[in-house]
Amino acid sequence: MKVTLSVIKADIGGYVGHSSSHPDILATAKESMEKAKTQGLLIDYHVTACGDDLQLIMTHQHGELNERIHKLAWDTFIKGTDVAKKLKLYGAGQDLLADAFSGNVKGMGPGVAEMAIEERTSEPIIIFMADKTAAGAWNLPLYKMFADPFNTIGLVIAPNMHAGFAFEVHDVKESKKITFNAPEEIYDMLVFLGAPGRFAVKSVYSREANEIAAVSSTERLSYMAGRYVGKDDPVCIVRSQGLFPAVGEVLEPFAHSYIVEGWMRGSHHGPLMPVAVREANPSRFDGPPRVICLGFQLANGKLIGPRDMFDDPAFDEARRQANQIADILRQHGPFEPHRLPLEEMEYTTMPQVMKRISGRMTELK
Ligand code: F6R
Ligand code: MG
Ligand code: MG
Repeated sequence: MKVTLSVIKADIGGYVGHSSSHPDILATAKESMEKAKTQGLLIDYHVTACGDDLQLIMTHQHGELNERIHKLAWDTFIKGTDVAKKLKLYGAGQDLLADAFSGNVKGMGPGVAEMAIEERTSEPIIIFMADKTAAGAWNLPLYKMFADPFNTIGLVIAPNMHAGFAFEVHDVKESKKITFNAPEEIYDMLVFLGAPGRFAVKSVYSREANEIAAVSSTERLSYMAGRYVGKDDPVCIVRSQGLFPAVGEVLEPFAHSYIVEGWMRGSHHGPLMPVAVREANPSRFDGPPRVICLGFQLANGKLIGPRDMFDDPAFDEARRQANQIADILRQHGPFEPHRLPLEEMEYTTMPQVMKRISGRMTELK
């Protein structure tokens, strides 16, 4: 059976500040999703939040970029925005950049990750959702999952994974794409993946079966709006087991915290902290950035689950490490490398300050 899995997300208002989502927003979204399920547009859905981002996880049979599904998501965000406005939640409707829906939500503010798949005999699906970070945040874990034998032993000893995986990489600034084959092109590929502010892994394919293995949202809000409108807070869907990495291999990159861009005012480097859904409420210095992970078994398009995959003491050390990194970085205050380089900061007072002091700036002799 061909099933499409669509994860569409947006920050339509924070509670309190940018730290979390109000229960009424989630309830409104669930009501909208339930109606679409009753009408037969959706097979199934799950609504959750990561920090101030509302996450709509939907299954259906209408393929990727489907107008009716995207309109459902857009209308749900509009209904949520109405609630956010009534409660005067913070930044109500902040990610809805367009005035009206037109065709699909790409380029309109929300983040989108979708895959249309032929559901296998058993189809374990892992969905990662992050807050206070940018699209390239998945580069490091996707590389580890699908190209690093120190993370994924299946690449070495599982015959159906030994051919490796192909990575579609997007240049989010120049709107270009390229596909690299792992393992033979990993050195070339890492030149790009190592610069996650500009290059982001959009999707990964099994080379054994030419099957989609992972897909992420790569929308960069700031490039769309031409100004700072919050971080992208990306999502990523990963298929698991059999042809693909085992669940434990998919989760293993998060056993250590790693540093991403985002955090306070979208202008800092900070540790990504893997947490249970109930702990995805970034508060310290508006962070540190969080990642949650829900696991489902698909059953004829039904979402069996979720299991809250980071609700496991095995990730306690990664959380502790994230707090230690947070302390070290915070001690740098307004200094790089905690604060992003000038050209990458989402907020800056540089032009105003430069203008004011320009008369005092003289040539070095
Ligand atoms: C980060 C984020 C927050 C805000 C910060 C200031 O992605 O959303 O850190 O940038 O709380 O928000 P404003 O400028 O709305 O007061
Ligand atoms: Mg926000
Ligand atoms: Mg957010």
